[in-house]
This record gives sequence, structure tokens and C-alpha cells, in this order.
Amino acid sequence: MKTKELKSGNKIPILGFGTWQLTEETCIEAVKIALEKGYRHIDTAEMYQNQKEVARGIQDSGIKRQNIFLTSKVWFSNLTKQDLRIALEKTLRELNTDYLDLYLIHWPNRKVDMSETLKAMDQAKNQGLIKSIGVSNFTINHLKDVLKAGVEISVNQVEFHPSLYQRALKKFMDEHGMLLTAYSPTAQGEDFGIDLIQDLAKKYRKTNSQIVLNWILSKDAVAIPRSKNPEHIEENLKALEFEMQESDLKKIDGLNLNNRLIQPDFADFDY
Ligand SMILES: NC(=O)c1ccc[n+]([C@@H]2O[C@H](COP(=O)([O-])OP(=O)(O)OC[C@H]3O[C@@H](n4cnc5c(N)ncnc54)[C@H](OP(=O)(O)O)[C@@H]3O)[C@@H](O)[C@H]2O)c1
Repeated sequence: MKTKELKSGNKIPILGFGTWQLTEETCIEAVKIALEKGYRHIDTAEMYQNQKEVARGIQDSGIKRQNIFLTSKVWFSNLTKQDLRIALEKTLRELNTDYLDLYLIHWPNRKVDMSETLKAMDQAKNQGLIKSIGVSNFTINHLKDVLKAGVEISVNQVEFHPSLYQRALKKFMDEHGMLLTAYSPTAQGEDFGIDLIQDLAKKYRKTNSQIVLNWILSKDAVAIPRSKNPEHIEENLKALEFEMQESDLKKIDGLNLNNRLIQPDFADFDY
């Protein structure tokens, strides 16, 4: 699997496997199948309440822990130094591992001093409990606060797909060497309904999902599609195996509708 080097110096596989809403046996089986088919990057979070099942899927796959890039996230109510430590230890226990490859602040919470949280993460990094630090659902202004806090972050995981092409955020992140990980990369299937995506799928003899994921990867971003269907799991992996013409990629650039699907009431996107 192709990787990208993070600011921390660690390498992240460019296509990961999302696990939100995968629970119980479905989660165990999906993670196992994804690893068997070749994924080496798994995305979970304490909030998904499936970390034990993710660990079981990893164990059942027989793939060694050190060959897997494992991401988890701390919930926004656990961002004080003490709460973060408790949450991290629980996550490590549930995932049955000594370390995370990447630990993200799941959502910004301006009620807690950002530098307190980031310093707690940095301490965990220095202790070898996490290899890279990141954030999720951060706007440019949140990222400016991160820069002020002076702790290096490698990743911002945000919603990103053809109908939500966050061009300004991506540009800012590129300028600061932060990698964008695209969540809900298929817009949970919504972007498959776009005519241009369907036309390009026909032109390249690929599926709608492969066209959407391939466009994300062409932006130097990482994508983490989720599926419980073994055929879809494999199909998404094959999004890595072709290139589209620059003119077609540009056409997809023009599809943006600011179509944001994930906007819980605690989100802080107006900051
Ligand atoms: N940081 C955050 O706040 C945040 C928020 C949302 C998501 N995430 C992460 O990002 C991951 C992905 O996002 P997501 O789960 O919201 O959405 P997604 O991956 O865009 O979409 C998942 C949906 O698409 C379907 N699908 C996937 N591949 C397909 C294919 N090849 N053909 C047809 N349908 C396909 C799946 O159905 P089947 O199961 O039937 O294939 C599922 O219903 C999550 O699982 C999670 O790890 C993070």
C-alpha cells in the first residue's frame, strides 16, 4: 500500500478503512476482511464504541500490529490533561495495543485551552503511546490556534468529497505541511448520484466509488471509506490502481456544492 510521510516522520497508508457505525460481529468481520484484502490503515474512535471489535478484527486477520496504521480519536468532552490521559489509556486497552499510530482530537472544544490538550498529547507522544498527533473537524481558525499553541500536528481529518471540496482549508493545510484525511469520502454514497461521476465511471470502466476516491487521492489527501460489504471493501481498494486525465479531475473540482453531511449541534464550523 502506498504511503505518505507525515510531518512527524511516520508514514500513513493513503487509503484507510473507516469503522464508524460498524458494531459487534459486523465490525470484527469487516476489519478482518479489509486487512486480508490489503488495507493497512484502520480508523476508529472512542465514540464509535467498537474499539474492542476493531482489535478482534485485527487479531483474527493474523496481520501483525506493527504492519497496521491504527488511528483513534479522543472525544471533545475529554480534552483536559487528566481526562485525555484516562481516555487514551482506555482506548489503548480496548484496542489491545501499546500505542496508536495517530491520535486525533475528534472535534474542537474551545471551552478547553487548546494548548493543554495538545501538550497532553505531546507528552503521550514522548512516552511512546502515540506516534503522531492530529485533529479532526478543525477549521482554518482552529488550526491557527494550534499553530499558536506550538505543538506540531500532522493531520486534520475532515469531511471531504466532490460535493464538499474544501479548497481553502486544503490550501491552508498544504501551506503548513498538514495532511488532509477525507472522511465520508463517498458522501455516504450521495456523490454516486452525480451525472459527471457516472459518466467518468463509464469512460474509465470503473465504479462511481472508485472515481470519487481516485479524485480524493489525486488531491494528495488520504481517504478512509467504510463498508461492511466485502465486494465494496475490495472495490474501494482498487481506486488506487488507475489515473484519470487532468481535464477530468478538473471537471470534478467544479462539482462543489458545500454539501456538508456531518454537522452535529456541537460542531464549530462557523469559527
Ligand atoms: N472525524 C469524524 O468526525 C468522522 C466523521 C464521519 C466519519 N469519519 C470516519 O470516516 C469513515 C468514512 O465515513 P462514513 O462512514 O461517514 O462514509 P463513507 O465511507 O463515505 O460511506 C459509507 C457508506 O457508503 C457505502 N459504500 C462504501 N463503499 C461503497 C461502494 N464501493 N459501493 C457502494 N456503496 C459503498 C457503505 O455501504 P456498504 O457498507 O453497504 O458498502 C456505507 O453505507 C467513517 O467510517 C469514520 O471512520 C470520521
